[in-house]
Amino acid sequence: MKRLKNKVAIITGGASGLGLAGVNLFLQEGAKVVVVDFDKKQTKKTIEPLIAAGKDVIAVNADVSKEEDWAKVVKETLAKFGRIDVLVNNAGVHVAQDVLHTTVEDWTRVMNINSLGMLLGIKHCAPEMKKVGGGSIINTSSIGAEIGGFGDGYSAAYSMSKGAIRSLTKHASQVLAADNIRVNTVMPGVMFTDMTVKLGFNSREELGKVYKGTACLKPYAGEANDIGYLYLYLASDESKYATGSEFIVDGGWVASSGQASDGRTYEEEKTSTNKEEKTSTNKEGKSATKKRTNK
Ligand SMILES: NC(=O)c1ccc[n+]([C@@H]2O[C@H](COP(=O)([O-])OP(=O)(O)OC[C@H]3O[C@@H](n4cnc5c(N)ncnc54)[C@H](O)[C@@H]3O)[C@@H](O)[C@H]2O)c1
Repeated sequence: MKRLKNKVAIITGGASGLGLAGVNLFLQEGAKVVVVDFDKKQTKKTIEPLIAAGKDVIAVNADVSKEEDWAKVVKETLAKFGRIDVLVNNAGVHVAQDVLHTTVEDWTRVMNINSLGMLLGIKHCAPEMKKVGGGSIINTSSIGAEIGGFGDGYSAAYSMSKGAIRSLTKHASQVLAADNIRVNTVMPGVMFTDMTVKLGFNSREELGKVYKGTACLKPYAGEANDIGYLYLYLASDESKYATGSEFIVDGGWVASSGQASDGRTYEEEKTSTNKEEKTSTNKEGKSATKKRTNK
């Protein structure tokens, strides 16, 4: 039995990265998929071949930050597939500027796409979910919303916009629970996608080298499917009792915060610990170890 059989899913930013991973997994699991993206070139490259191959997918060229575009998305989805069961609010942009260098223009653009775009998606899709007895809304935030620093490329606007998503999820989950519409937040760590290529990292390994010592799991950067599978779980009825929640997939970064800030890995820590000299022995014959000074 396919996990998303009979479900119609809208995925914003679905032409690339984490959204595209969701598109492929959702199709594989029997969903009908609507890709919403404003990048025509990228849509031609990644989605048009799927359409040409006869997959149950359409592409709608739309900007998630514009309310009139959402009306178009809903209209085209209903015209093609007749219902909406799942909304993955995944589209997002990043600007790497700290609080001292953020311009009003950049802040407004990032907030409009990353935060307002998700509110508009919920506002326009939830009434259609209500008509079919429920649904699932997945909002993509970031661990930048938790740690507000290195994890978001030192970006003030980005981490603010991702923080707003956490509040929006909690609010919407309460408003929509009576209609059996679940709303959850996904918080990825560092994942190798086009977004990180735009930040100057050309491979997962290159990205991992920079983040070595923050995430715990090798190669210290995730790949798109690591989030795609979480989208799949949250879109399916397997997550039917999950709402208002936050799901972190970050290779252990948030859990290890502050413990590996000098860039050493756990293995390097272990090796240096094993090399320590036992410098004193107490009366009971147990060894005591000199405090390490190898920082
Ligand atoms: N890659 C990471 O390390 C990472 C980490 C944490 C959170 N995220 C979040 O995950 C989501 C997906 O990121 P990604 O890494 O796949 O990025 P990506 O750049 O590879 O893909 C984003 C897609 O969104 C589309 N998009 C952007 N603005 C849009 C708009 N206004 N309207 C319609 N489409 C728009 C782009 O055209 C692109 O296809 C984003 O919300 C991002 O902030 C990514």
